[in-house]
Amino acid sequence: MDVVEALKGRRATRSYTGETVSRDVITSLIDAAIAAPSAMNLQPWSFVVVEGAERLREMSSRAKDYLLTGSPSTPSFLASREVLADQDFNLFYGAPCLVIVCARPPSRQAMEDCCLAAQNLMLAAHAQGLGSCWIGFARPWLELNQTRTTLGLLPDQMPVAPIVLGRPTVMPQPSRRHRPSIVWN
Ligand SMILES: Cc1cc2nc3c(=O)[nH]c(=O)nc-3n(C[C@H](O)[C@H](O)[C@H](O)COP(=O)(O)O)c2cc1C
Repeated sequence: MDVVEALKGRRATRSYTGETVSRDVITSLIDAAIAAPSAMNLQPWSFVVVEGAERLREMSSRAKDYLLTGSPSTPSFLASREVLADQDFNLFYGAPCLVIVCARPPSRQAMEDCCLAAQNLMLAAHAQGLGSCWIGFARPWLELNQTRTTLGLLPDQMPVAPIVLGRPTVMPQPSRRHRPSIVWN
């Protein structure tokens, strides 16, 4: 697949079939992720994989409880209260797999590097006919000590990009892009 075609064809996927994603495929996507550039080539990333739609459904319930009751009331969470309070809303959309791209400080630009790795991962998934979605909602809950321990995150691993992967039930429609501001000098 042509790279621009991949860039323009990738969509945030919010509905998945039950089909699992094999470890070989996940490993190949992580291989693509680590082809990303990184500041001073420090490659300050690592990956935590959670497998199983049922496991992710349980994690969704716990994360939603935390977001609704325990997390700081930031305006964006307040705006999403109704969605989060819906019993049927699964934060991970029924996906069979979650890959968390984690940053490893002390690299000062680890966050930026991990975002590039995450985009690579999503594009590589798209090239293989898989859907993906970055689940920013999950991050505050993933940062909790108890969650970190459960998922086996090391003390220096900071979750940056939680990305669900799986076979899409339908290919989502493209979302509109605003015309960007461009200053020509
Ligand atoms: C940092 C970040 C956080 C996101 N968090 C969520 C999320 O929690 N839930 C969700 O459904 N989509 C999330 N998305 C997906 C965006 O909503 C989606 O990329 C955007 O609407 C544009 O659609 P497209 O990816 O199909 O082009 C996130 C995307 C990014 C980059």
